[in-house]
Amino acid sequence: MNYEVRMTRLMSRIIDYRSPFTAMHSAGVAASAKKLAELAGMSREECLMMEIAGNLHDIGKLRASTYLYGGDDDTLNVEKMRYVRLHAGLGYEVVKEEGYPDRICEMILHHHENYDGTGYPDNLVGEEIPLGARILRVCDVFAALTSDRPYRKAFDSETAVELLIEEVRHFDMKVFLPFQSIVHDEVQAREKAKREAYSGVTTDKLVN
Ligand SMILES: [Fe+2]
Repeated sequence: MNYEVRMTRLMSRIIDYRSPFTAMHSAGVAASAKKLAELAGMSREECLMMEIAGNLHDIGKLRASTYLYGGDDDTLNVEKMRYVRLHAGLGYEVVKEEGYPDRICEMILHHHENYDGTGYPDNLVGEEIPLGARILRVCDVFAALTSDRPYRKAFDSETAVELLIEEVRHFDMKVFLPFQSIVHDEVQAREKAKREAYSGVTTDKLVN
């Protein structure tokens, strides 16, 4: 495997372990972002860039971690919210300083922009947002919804997609629709595996 990608996977674990509620979040975002890129027919290099950007998209949270994860309450107060909003720009600075390609830096800077212009840091609208950032946006929100948070349990994949549909104005439909079909296929595959695991299992076997 590409050594640089492997290093960014390691980095994603460090980013995620900083908060007890985000373990493997970045890895999940990276995996689905890469899958979407492959589905869109992007080149191998572009797919790897998507994976790297997914792994590193929240690296700015490490620079703001004292404010984000310090203290003993898990509420998202105004002060914390301010630092949450800064993490995209902080992350951009880190990867830029480390000499990552501009494409990756831009994806990280804009991964919280919404398609309708209501995101941050620059309130970009529609195609002004780099395609990679539009891909990260959908994968990021989905990964957050399908994991436990201090204030709620994880939603299952189908419910998470329904919640995404309610906010679909935030997403590029050219990205959202293929993403929805990836999730659908995964749900179907899980159901099929479950059915196969139980086929031939008698009631006797289930209770004993
Ligand atoms: Fe983020």
